[in-house]
Amino acid sequence: MSGPFSHYRITAVTIWLLAVASSWTWNTVDNIREKNSIAIVTARAFYGQILASRQWNLMHGGVYVYSTALSPPNQFLPKDKQFILDEKGKRLTLMNPSYMTRQIAEISRQKGLVRFHITSLTPLRPENKPYPWEVPWLEAFARGSHESSSFADEDGKEIFHYMAPLPLQESCKPCHSAATTAGSNIRGAISVSLPIPFHKSVWPLFFSHIFVALTGIVGILFFGGRLAQSRKNILKSNTRLEQEVEERKETEKELISIKENLEQIVDSRTRELRRSNEALDAEIEEQQRIEAALVSINDEFIQIFNTAPDGMLVIDLDFNIIRVNHAQCLLTGKDIKDIQGHKCYEALPGKLCHTDQCPLKQIRNGTKRVEIEIHCIHTDGTEIPCMVTATPFKEPGGALTGMIQVTRDVSD
Ligand code: HEC
Repeated sequence: MSGPFSHYRITAVTIWLLAVASSWTWNTVDNIREKNSIAIVTARAFYGQILASRQWNLMHGGVYVYSTALSPPNQFLPKDKQFILDEKGKRLTLMNPSYMTRQIAEISRQKGLVRFHITSLTPLRPENKPYPWEVPWLEAFARGSHESSSFADEDGKEIFHYMAPLPLQESCKPCHSAATTAGSNIRGAISVSLPIPFHKSVWPLFFSHIFVALTGIVGILFFGGRLAQSRKNILKSNTRLEQEVEERKETEKELISIKENLEQIVDSRTRELRRSNEALDAEIEEQQRIEAALVSINDEFIQIFNTAPDGMLVIDLDFNIIRVNHAQCLLTGKDIKDIQGHKCYEALPGKLCHTDQCPLKQIRNGTKRVEIEIHCIHTDGTEIPCMVTATPFKEPGGALTGMIQVTRDVSD
């Protein structure tokens, strides 16, 4: 998925919003808890204070004050205890703890501060009867509860109500005979009502969280976009790499097939070579066989050549004696090595040498057969009359390569 609202970014934004929302909730709850604890600590302090004042009063079994319009005798006290007279006949009112509590509460109420209310489910003084919201709490105290509190709205103002019980003690007994409910030792209770001036607006917290949430979202979208971009790039280069790997594999495959082809070619060439080698071997064998045959023919020829009764010479076109036989050596008395390989006109000089009568010259000029009578000179000086016959010596192809000369002793 791509675009600014990809799957991941939506998830990230959701998580972020959840985190911000829980921070906001936590802060709000913490604010409420803080408000509660401030309220209850304050209320407890006031309750403690009023209890201390009552304790002071009780310590003295009630306190006498001069009777004024503000402190008339308490008609709910026994007649004989309601007031006394001083030496000058001036009246003093007995101020019992409840009476004093009511007066302090009145002063406080007039100043618009904390409000106190001393009450009971069974009040001696009917005006001390509980407010409707106090009744359930009083009943709860009778069952053993130690304090109660709650926030309430009064004419659009937030009020904190707190209430704690007043147990019946020994010191109460002169004026209160029994507890409110049978089985409990609660005589009544004092409620403390605090106006809540430290109202904290929810908006700064709300807007700061909105701001943080928006900044986070922008950040997530921005960096998420960049992340997505780099992820895309990575994926792209990954694909490229994969392609390259594929290509390399292809090339490798091709190389392997080329190699296999080459091996096949080499194999078939090797086979061919082997075959032609074998053929060559066969040919060489044949050749050797022919050569051997030729050698034996040659041997035979040389034997025939040497055993012939007439002298025989083979001379090439340049007057070189190529071959000489035994009979020729006997005729001239020369050794074979003094004749074979030498020029004819040097090894076996005669009258015809260097003349037009030279048989080789004649043969070279195209004569088919030359017959001449000559005298062979032996090395011992004797002259032997001989008949010389020269014929052309030809290659197998027919080309003239020299001549064959046969010398017959005709001295008989
Ligand atoms: C000297 C007598 C006297 C003593 C001691 C005394 N009271 Fe009272 N109390 C009264 C009288 C009288 C009233 C009713 C008129 C009033 O409000 O003053 C009253 C009222 C009350 C009320 C208000 C409800 C009602 O009945 O009208 C409570 C609660 C109360 N007393 C608790 C106590 C407790 C708890 C003690 C002991 C710790 C105690 N008093 C000690 C005389 C006394």
